[in-house]
Amino acid sequence: MNITALSSTAQNSTTTDAPSQDAAHQQWWRDAVVYQVYPRSFADSDGDGMGDLPGITARLEHIAELGADAIWLSPFYTSPQNDGGYDVGDYEDVDPRFGTLADADTLIARAHELGLKVIVDIVPNHSSSEHVLFQKALEAAPGSPERDMYMFREGRGQDGELPPNNWQSIFHGDAWTRVTEADGTPGQWYLHLFDTTQPDFNWENPAVHELFAGVLRFWLDRGADGFRVDVAHGMVKPEGLPDSPVDSEGMAVVPQGEVPVYFDNDGVHAIYREWRAILDEYPGDRMMVGEAWIPERSMPKYVRPDEMHQVFNFGYLQSRWDVDAFRHAIAEPLRLADEVGAPTTWVLSNHDVIRHATRYGFGPEHRFGEGLSRDEHPDAELGLARARAATLLMLALPGSAYLYQGEELGLPEVADIPDELREDPAHKRAGVPGRDGCRVPIPWEGDAPAYGFSPTGNSWLPQPVVFGELAADRQRGVAGSTLELYREALRLRRELRLGAHRPGDEVTFVDGVPEGVLAVQHGEVIVVVNTTAQPVQLSTLPGPAGGDRPAPVLLASSAVQDGRLPADAAAWLRVRL
Ligand code: GLC
Ligand code: MG
Repeated sequence: MNITALSSTAQNSTTTDAPSQDAAHQQWWRDAVVYQVYPRSFADSDGDGMGDLPGITARLEHIAELGADAIWLSPFYTSPQNDGGYDVGDYEDVDPRFGTLADADTLIARAHELGLKVIVDIVPNHSSSEHVLFQKALEAAPGSPERDMYMFREGRGQDGELPPNNWQSIFHGDAWTRVTEADGTPGQWYLHLFDTTQPDFNWENPAVHELFAGVLRFWLDRGADGFRVDVAHGMVKPEGLPDSPVDSEGMAVVPQGEVPVYFDNDGVHAIYREWRAILDEYPGDRMMVGEAWIPERSMPKYVRPDEMHQVFNFGYLQSRWDVDAFRHAIAEPLRLADEVGAPTTWVLSNHDVIRHATRYGFGPEHRFGEGLSRDEHPDAELGLARARAATLLMLALPGSAYLYQGEELGLPEVADIPDELREDPAHKRAGVPGRDGCRVPIPWEGDAPAYGFSPTGNSWLPQPVVFGELAADRQRGVAGSTLELYREALRLRRELRLGAHRPGDEVTFVDGVPEGVLAVQHGEVIVVVNTTAQPVQLSTLPGPAGGDRPAPVLLASSAVQDGRLPADAAAWLRVRL
């Protein structure tokens, strides 16, 4: 580590960086902490047990006080809610369960008042089967312009009785469903990479481009500061819709580390260039962040200067509790983002994966998908300790960090949900536990009905008793609580400009630390992560000892006593430059 070099860089940037130019050109999203709100489960204002927009507006202060810069709202559009709203019936209206367009305007205005930017989720790969365009397509004849809005094809086999290819849905089962034509005969098939009620749009059709250009403008005009692009790697399918590779039993398979043939096709980039031009027409720094589960090597393509601004870096989320895994999950995305001058992003939890406070309790069989079943018993205490540490590591890194509602309370994944209450289409299609366990409504007040989620005590998914102890009001002001840890980390991150990616200000791995310890320096902070089972004496580490005074502990995920960082913990040390 080269403290001298770092020191001069830091001084240069403070002297040249008068309030002026740099500040004006500092695009907010480059180092933003974005808080994801899942509207169904954040706060319910009308007592129906379903979260809603007025509920969110009333609780925005929590997010502002936490120190986030922006919110990302998962879909609140008109929708039959077969996939929690990712099945959109009307992209330009609000589902009555969540409120009205006027409520959306109020929410955006209140967020702006509190200094929070607003990112809206856009779902362009597919609509709901209840979308008027799909209904029209069903009524129209094969080969009609209505059908051409979606991916209709003739079946294979003698009478078209077999699906057009062997693609499997992300939610299990065939990715094709056969329709009955107007005359009552079995007809064409339509593609749905997700649920049968989520037909894929045909992005070869210019009318689909027009439709979404209109949707973007609709929300930009209403004040949206950006978009989170759902399934950003899926919209354009490979030419000729070729079969996926198959295993010896003829089942479609995806080679390790790769994606299904229908993802990550180059055609998607033209769409982002088109959208970027639209965003650039608007004042303010409007942005797009892509949800793309793609091989790492593909990431830079999505964030080229004329495409999206960010893409989720899911490698960090998938990283095991292991020094080498973390090193890779940090260094590689930084290197890749640098190739195209984009900031990287960091994320540990969202509405699709097992909450990280639970994930890290699995031990070596690290897993993030398909939900938690009742027979699995990851270690909750260990999980939370490691989750807090992984969060501290993430929040010291340059780039933008995405938080998922409830992680600041240390909420666990909920396994104990009766099957009949589970709503994830993957559960319905394949019997896997699914993603409901990370979508359980947020506990605000330990002693209130539904822990303050809803005035009537209703909750669309049952909340476990432990949510009472973890409620926001039980943690606010309590030293050492997860909520206070997040607040302090975000405060320091802002104060020390840890999110900023300044030229020359590199992330450095400190060499010579004991095995199982990771020490990462960024700016004036060294984050030390102890993955071993023993405490680590911080003063013996080469990084902090490299200065002439001991580096003070700014913040730790578990209390540092006598200079020792406990097992399964992380600390931020201040390096005096
Ligand atoms: C994205 C969403 C997920 C949804 C899927 C289909 O992955 O995050 O929740 O089920 O797209 O829209
Ligand atoms: Mg409600």
